[in-house]
Amino acid sequence: MIVAIANQKGGVGKTTTAINLAAALSLRGKPTLLVDLDPQANSTMSYVDVTAVTRSVYDAIAEPGVTFTDVIIPSTQQPNLWVAPSRIALAKLESKLVGELDAHFRLKDRLEPILEQYPNIVIDCPPTLGLLTVNALVAATHLLIPIQSSYFALEGTDDLLETIEKVRARANPSLRILGVVITMHDKRTALARDIRAQIDKVFGTKVFKTVITKSVRLEESPAYKESIFTFAPESTGAAEYYRLCEEVMDRA
Ligand SMILES: Nc1ncnc2c1ncn2[C@@H]1O[C@H](COP(=O)(O)OP(=O)(O)OP(=O)(O)O)[C@@H](O)[C@H]1O
Ligand SMILES: [Mg+2]
Repeated sequence: MIVAIANQKGGVGKTTTAINLAAALSLRGKPTLLVDLDPQANSTMSYVDVTAVTRSVYDAIAEPGVTFTDVIIPSTQQPNLWVAPSRIALAKLESKLVGELDAHFRLKDRLEPILEQYPNIVIDCPPTLGLLTVNALVAATHLLIPIQSSYFALEGTDDLLETIEKVRARANPSLRILGVVITMHDKRTALARDIRAQIDKVFGTKVFKTVITKSVRLEESPAYKESIFTFAPESTGAAEYYRLCEEVMDRA
């Protein structure tokens, strides 16, 4: 399973979902690879010491002599979890690959040799619909869309769905929308309940039953390079991401 976590809207919980879903999958005993495709490198920082990163996903995609195996590093605290780290250099990938015929297929092709080694791959996308996200959608078997429980929650989802359809039309017909996860939900407010109803109306059964509520623990854990499962195993965030992982596996 290769799950891309995408939504071109910024700050909706992509990285939080990517790091904790990857951790939840790794806890089930299968080697899991977290691919950080965002030049901001937030996923990378959540699990590894960035000063130790010498080569990144950029090199594995853009440099002919570099493979994913050359760039992958183990996470510092979570067994069974590896990270393909990002660096700001990823921001120049688009200009580097301009005019290359296989520009959209680079990630897919470069991941191919390591699929057996990592049965689970989670890709954290940047907040754009550019070449990096398209590479993720082409490489992925499944797509998971985090949507923040906020007034403008659904703004931009049309563009995202259009991009998904374009990718499906040619490059990756078997790409499946695994589901939509509502993040940073606040059960107590009427607005949040309205927003939830709106999201349900648009995405129907695609919406995961598990909703991720607002939680300080989820914000804190990356600073300690831990997943929510070791940082605050008894927290609601841990229980919610654990259940989300179960739903993901049921649907995959
Ligand atoms: N359930 C949650 N409860 C509280 N804070 C959260 C929750 N999920 C995410 N956050 C916080 O919200 C901010 C944005 O989340 P995150 O980085 O996961 O979003 P993103 O979609 O990856 O952002 P970007 O588009 O910049 O990559 C972060 O500070 C994160 O810690
Ligand atoms: Mg992010």
